[in-house]
Amino acid sequence: MRHLIGISDLTTGEIESLLNTADDIIARPGDYFGVCRGKKLATLFFEPSTRTRLSFEAAMLDLGGNVLGFSSASSSSASKGESVQDTVRTVSQYVDIIAMRHPREGAPLAASLRSDVPVINAGDGGHNHPTQTLADLTTIRREKGRLTDMTIGVCGDLKFGRTVHSLVEAMARYPGVRFVMISPEELKTPDYVTRSLSAQGVEYRETASLEEAMGELDVLYMTRVQRERFFNEEDYVRLKDSYILTPEKLESARRDLIVMHPLPRVNEISRQVDDDPRACYFKQVKNGKFVRMALILMLLEAAGQ
Ligand code: CP
Repeated sequence: MRHLIGISDLTTGEIESLLNTADDIIARPGDYFGVCRGKKLATLFFEPSTRTRLSFEAAMLDLGGNVLGFSSASSSSASKGESVQDTVRTVSQYVDIIAMRHPREGAPLAASLRSDVPVINAGDGGHNHPTQTLADLTTIRREKGRLTDMTIGVCGDLKFGRTVHSLVEAMARYPGVRFVMISPEELKTPDYVTRSLSAQGVEYRETASLEEAMGELDVLYMTRVQRERFFNEEDYVRLKDSYILTPEKLESARRDLIVMHPLPRVNEISRQVDDDPRACYFKQVKNGKFVRMALILMLLEAAGQ
């Protein structure tokens, strides 16, 4: 049984194949309608979501399949004390594939060990979010025409921001990619991520200044400070507006920069930036559905369905 728990579950060739399929779906959506007729996707979301859950559901519907699930732990039997493993083992009797989000790191992995169908990690705590990374890679490749030879600035909550951890892990595979990690001291990238970059010989540097880094970036990936992962409100309030991207700050950026954000945003990007042609965050949203369609097809095929 093939699952997607972390981006390392995919080879570079498989990522390329998924991105190619997403491009093909964008070019010829009619060719894909109905290919999952009779198949069911369950979205088991123990934590809030707008984009990931709805894009998975839209993806399956656009493939002609059906969807069922829940959008909070409180509306499932988890609220009665059922384990994640028992929930997934149960749901896997009803459906062909499961997308699952959980606040506990490692929960989708634990669930996958008990599932009779493919499990996709739709975000686990502050750990990983591999399908957001597939949306991000689709966007970078479509906008820049390549995944190699670029400087990527990741900015904001690099400690708890799971999308950053998965993105850095994925982009580190490509030659000529270097990273600038922009965060306050308290929200620096976890050691396990930077140690992995060093072990692979990938260039990176850490700074607290977005302004200082701006001019050297090909991609600027902004992130929200993850209020739900903080232990006290005081720290959150102190750090939440550490970085606010404005049109003025973008004046020193390259003309061909792309500005990304996994969303939801709070204050990290001023609404005025939305009209800048370099703003790509709503393109990420759109691309996310197409690459999730590609992923559903790949995992169902691997499961012999
Ligand atoms: N990017 C992302 O995971 O958004 P949601 O939390 O709305 O799913």
